[in-house]
Amino acid sequence: MEKANFNRRDFLKTSFKTIAVGTVALSALDIKKILASEIQEGTGIQKVINLADYPDLGSVGGSAMIGGKTIVIRTGGSKFIALNITCTHKKCDVEYNGSGFECPCHGSTYDGSGKVTNGPAKKNLKSYKTTYNEAENSLTINM
Ligand code: FES
Repeated sequence: MEKANFNRRDFLKTSFKTIAVGTVALSALDIKKILASEIQEGTGIQKVINLADYPDLGSVGGSAMIGGKTIVIRTGGSKFIALNITCTHKKCDVEYNGSGFECPCHGSTYDGSGKVTNGPAKKNLKSYKTTYNEAENSLTINM
């Protein structure tokens, strides 16, 4: 009996509601995918920086943040390391003190190369391969 009362207007209302809910759900999934791709690591993305834009990297021992989560440290005339500053314990941002890293959340420490020196973190900081181009004064970071 109820089916008989399910008229065209009800059908359209139900259809629009279904489409609206589906669209919102798909949008949420797309946003999640976009966010995941931005924070995903090891994706083969290369970032090339002009060292002239980072004066602190002009001398050995200098460091600079590249983007929000990557620190680059000049360890030699043509040697650089790039590390993700996300603590491997519970993902707080670690702080660089000029020789190593300390996590403000639970006290994990890492040496200057990102190796864990004190827990609770068990894994080293994520590091990225770098390639220095002296002729162009640029650094390629494989993220
Ligand atoms: S999040 Fe860094 S020690 Fe816990």
